Amino acid sequence: MANQRAELTWTEDQIPVSDRFDDPYYSLQNGLEETRHVFLAGNDLPARFAPGFHIAELGFGTGLNMLTAWSEWEKAGQTTPLTFTSFEAFPMEPGDMARALAAFPELASWSGRFLDQWQGGRCDLGTLHLEVVEGDARQTLPVWKAEADAWFLDGFSPAKNPELWGADLMQQVADHTAHGGSAATYTAAGFVRRGLEDAGFTVTRTPGYGRKRHMTRAVRK
Ligand SMILES: C[S@@+](CC[C@H](N)C(=O)[O-])C[C@H]1O[C@@H](n2cnc3c(N)ncnc32)[C@H](O)[C@@H]1O
Repeated sequence: MANQRAELTWTEDQIPVSDRFDDPYYSLQNGLEETRHVFLAGNDLPARFAPGFHIAELGFGTGLNMLTAWSEWEKAGQTTPLTFTSFEAFPMEPGDMARALAAFPELASWSGRFLDQWQGGRCDLGTLHLEVVEGDARQTLPVWKAEADAWFLDGFSPAKNPELWGADLMQQVADHTAHGGSAATYTAAGFVRRGLEDAGFTVTRTPGYGRKRHMTRAVRK
């Protein structure tokens, strides 16, 4: 699966839609607000930010979640690096990332610095240490040698991308979460919640973003 690139169609609002998974990369309503609600608030961020904090993500996509987290990190006054590791099987071309991210002028200062440096792999931007691990997360996460304080579970919808939500992968997420760490996702699909519970998380269903009634928050026991 290595070196497979994302193939995209664009909506009128410049939101990328995956041809392979037939699903948009983020909310058609407001991707930035969805990220803040689901992944930041869902992990009690920025309140938990502290030096050494490590966020991990399933599905890097456009980098929108990473940029939102990094911007909040700097706005919270953190001066040490935020570590952000994302697992991505079908990396997007930087030109496509730039096209998508141009729709979020609020993030321009962060997307500009990121896109200036980004060539894939690792990137050190002072207050951000980013690594995107290329390949199928079902293969790359089990051999990952670190743990995260917070997880952003952001595969395409479980109905369209079930391989990124399976019980074995949720167990790998739990095994790579620090004690007391957390995970959040926009989906409240029963099999995802059960997978997280069986893996050792305490799982709660909370109000979702926009038209989604529920989302899922999970804290490692
Ligand atoms: C909803 S998008 C992520 C959006 C992203 N977080 C953002 O901020 O733009 C889902 C991502 O999961 C990736 N993906 C799908 N299956 C995968 C797999 N088995 N392993 C790793 N990544 C996968 C897709 O290529 C896509 O980039």
